[in-house]
Amino acid sequence: MSGANVAVFGATGAVGVEMLKILEERNFPVENLRLLASRGERTVRWRGGDYAVEAIGPAGFEGVDVALFAVEGDVSREWAPVAVKSGAVVIDNSSAFRMAPEVPLVVPEVNPEDIATHRGIIANPNCSTIIAVVALDPLHRAAGIRRLIASTYQAVSGAGRQGVEELEKQTRAYAEGNINPEVSAFQYQIAFNLIPHIDAFAEGDYTKEELKMRNESRKILHCPDLRVSATCVRVPVMRSHSEALTIETERPLSPDEARALLSDAKGVKLVDAPAEKAYPMPLFASDQDLIHVGRVRRDESAEDPSRALTLWVCGDQIRKGAATNAVQIAEIVWREKAKTRGLIEDPSTP
Ligand SMILES: NC(=O)c1ccc[n+]([C@@H]2O[C@H](COP(=O)([O-])OP(=O)(O)OC[C@H]3O[C@@H](n4cnc5c(N)ncnc54)[C@H](OP(=O)(O)O)[C@@H]3O)[C@@H](O)[C@H]2O)c1
Repeated sequence: MSGANVAVFGATGAVGVEMLKILEERNFPVENLRLLASRGERTVRWRGGDYAVEAIGPAGFEGVDVALFAVEGDVSREWAPVAVKSGAVVIDNSSAFRMAPEVPLVVPEVNPEDIATHRGIIANPNCSTIIAVVALDPLHRAAGIRRLIASTYQAVSGAGRQGVEELEKQTRAYAEGNINPEVSAFQYQIAFNLIPHIDAFAEGDYTKEELKMRNESRKILHCPDLRVSATCVRVPVMRSHSEALTIETERPLSPDEARALLSDAKGVKLVDAPAEKAYPMPLFASDQDLIHVGRVRRDESAEDPSRALTLWVCGDQIRKGAATNAVQIAEIVWREKAKTRGLIEDPSTP
């Protein structure tokens, strides 16, 4: 055996389907693949073959090396310990373990070194947080970010399969003259509307989604004192989240310096030529892994505008905001496992 035994749990959902696509695209060395969901009786095509979906059960992770979890938090909480006990490393997309001190929360472009501290579970951050920190990390390394104000414009596919179906259904209903469409995935009609309410309301009247952006950014950037205020908004866009980010830095940072840093940054595509109408948009950031960054300018309203910038970013939240980030982590985890098993050479051993 030279490849990994991989399980995708939640293989029939928005993120699970994308994970399968990305495992194939990145040519992840899969020896055996298990697809798990709430029930079986379905098949999924992968690398030209039909794979049966299995109903999750206690034997679901036997022999699995890497388990990619794309299920809700309560389901992860129930099954991640079972997978770890079976010997798998779990890479979890839900919010269940993200803030647990013993669980690394990883964006490979930013803090890959944290993976080495795992004890069986590695958490994939919230999608809006991943998109923000990929863009912010190069600026943070250069000038030290001490404050972040974020406003997000989050696509309906961030709420999974159901979110996409709801926008499609409501748009069709609206075109047919029905102005009172059915509402189920979101709190209100999402077609031709915006909803400033993602996840439940929590401390200080922030939503949990907004607090995730604050807490997770601090953990990933290793910056516990980072001051963050976020407003997260659901918008009637199918795919890719957009974010307006205003930062204050310890040291001066000009828009030109920021653009130079961003144009060299891993995982970033600088799209910033306003005179040529070049700026990030969700339509053009979709179906790819690069986070598009543009509209870089001074925040002229800050007390010291030489240390304050505003930018606009867009990223595909199902790919880099979830599936690709998880597969990138899996690649690092598998490389380490394969070295330990002597399947690949470890350049550090003589
Ligand atoms: N969508 C995004 O952009 C995004 C981004 C970042 C993180 N996430 C996170 O990723 C996870 C998955 O999200 P999603 O958008 O892919 O959701 P989704 O489209 O609703 O898919 C959910 C998946 O979980 C399975 N499932 C549901 N209940 C289950 C149960 N009780 N036992 C076993 N399997 C069950 C479903 O299987 P069945 O087909 O059998 O129902 C399906 O495969 C969530 O934690 C979400 O917060 C999502």
